[in-house]
Amino acid sequence: MDFTSSQFPKLIMCHMKPVICRCFVLVIFILVFRTILLSPFPGVHLFQQRGSFWIPASTASNSQLGVRRDKFVEVPQIIWGLNNQKIAFARAILTARFLNRTLLMPSLSASLFYKEIDLLEPISFDKLFHFEKFNSLCHGFVRLGRYSDLSNQTKPFELQKGSGRKWTIERDLNQLKQCRDDSIDKFEVIRIVGKHPFLWRDHWAVKDYAKIFECLVLVDEIENEAMKVISRIREIGAKERSKVDIAKKEFNSDGSVDQPVPYIAVHMRIEKDWMIHCKKLEQKSNISQICSSKEEIMERVAHITGLHKPIVVYLAVADSLLEDGSMLSGWKDGLLPYEKKRLGVWNIYEKYPYLIRSAIDYEVCSRADVFVGNSFSTFSSLIVLSRTQKLISMGIPGACGIDIRLASYAYNILGESRGPKIWMTDMSASSLQSISYGTNNVSCYSNWKAMML
Ligand SMILES: *[C@@H]1O[C@H](CO)[C@@H](O)[C@H](O)[C@H]1NC(C)=O
Ligand SMILES: *[C@@H]1O[C@H](CO)[C@@H](O)[C@H](O)[C@H]1NC(C)=O
Ligand SMILES: *[C@@H]1O[C@H](CO)[C@@H](O)[C@H](O)[C@H]1NC(C)=O
Ligand SMILES: *[C@@H]1O[C@H](CO)[C@@H](O)[C@H](O)[C@H]1NC(C)=O
Repeated sequence: MDFTSSQFPKLIMCHMKPVICRCFVLVIFILVFRTILLSPFPGVHLFQQRGSFWIPASTASNSQLGVRRDKFVEVPQIIWGLNNQKIAFARAILTARFLNRTLLMPSLSASLFYKEIDLLEPISFDKLFHFEKFNSLCHGFVRLGRYSDLSNQTKPFELQKGSGRKWTIERDLNQLKQCRDDSIDKFEVIRIVGKHPFLWRDHWAVKDYAKIFECLVLVDEIENEAMKVISRIREIGAKERSKVDIAKKEFNSDGSVDQPVPYIAVHMRIEKDWMIHCKKLEQKSNISQICSSKEEIMERVAHITGLHKPIVVYLAVADSLLEDGSMLSGWKDGLLPYEKKRLGVWNIYEKYPYLIRSAIDYEVCSRADVFVGNSFSTFSSLIVLSRTQKLISMGIPGACGIDIRLASYAYNILGESRGPKIWMTDMSASSLQSISYGTNNVSCYSNWKAMML
């Protein structure tokens, strides 16, 4: 019953017809996992209600009671890029959890300006993410509250968080521990103040962040916009396929499509700002695998094995590059590059501020059949984290040496047969370091077993 880590990939490999084999193996996996994970080990509940995420037994049993509903943490407006904001939000709510308190729903920032605070258009968390779904998915683990829940019987306690290099992880933890003391705990609200208090490194493991991210579900309006973009991509893919392969019949007689046609998403970081930043980073860290030119990305994507061509390659690029059509040329036959403009979906994005545009792109990449990104980008890293979680929940903890759906790759690192390197998130990591700062040490194994120790 106890699989060792090296047995997983071998189990998945087999020599029947690939498609039949994959379905067969998947079914077996699901059955075996259900049996193992739902069997009544005393005190161990490995599956949560949603059945899609493993958490350690200790967390599961404590969390039955959940965090207090009458004590709160308040945090300043959350800023920077979409993924910095998601990480900062997770830090804020994990801090609240540490203090056994509900987090008052914070404001996010709709724009990317960060040098001038007054230009940071605040946008309520629930304009982007579903408030109720968040609380129901994360029930027992963390909790979001509204300002109307406050009784205002005491003034808030102001907690000044430090920042900068002198503010060590140890000092931060000591400060938080003091806040659990009665003299501070008696306050209804602990208001955290300071300069961007949640941009700094902290105390939580990757699996804790992963749990929070899993509870962040887009509101219906934005989710629908992302679905429109995805169906446009699949529609183009289906047309292109029917041109070269009429026998395959992607279309029914009424023009509808049965099977979603696969697509690749590539998060192409080639804009000028990034190129300057990554060159500096390469010098500073003495790692030569951070920057990839457009040509290198195209070359590596072309060498991904097992792609059924023609296939649409969705290019997630900075808006500043949309005018420059050059990234649309130079792709190998069978790879059909499209960005927002060429897809004809710019009108969808145009309506929204930066934060929401970015959230739509995130969704399009996250749901792609194959994703290729840069392992030094937080955006790419969080997408790979979400895809790794999906694979784990399907019973596929590793992607070493096999073709799987939902595969992710890092184009900045050379992998097998001149392609990009297969990439899964190490779910056992004790901090978000490699995700928020980037790494060239990516592996095709998620290490999820270590999460349960
Ligand atoms: C939080 O406080 C409640 C009420 O005091 C308690 O029942 C619960 O166990 C605490 N949760 C944690 C994680 O300490
Ligand atoms: C407490 O103050 C907040 C605004 O800061 C308000 O929304 C809430 O309704 C107040 N609660 C009560 C019970 O007065
Ligand atoms: C940088 O790395 C290379 C090998 O990758 C090594 O030979 C060189 O000494 C390193 N330079 C510094 C300054 O660490
Ligand atoms: C690379 O990551 C693995 C875990 O994923 C770790 O065991 C190993 O020590 C890391 N190697 C380096 C050189 O950091």
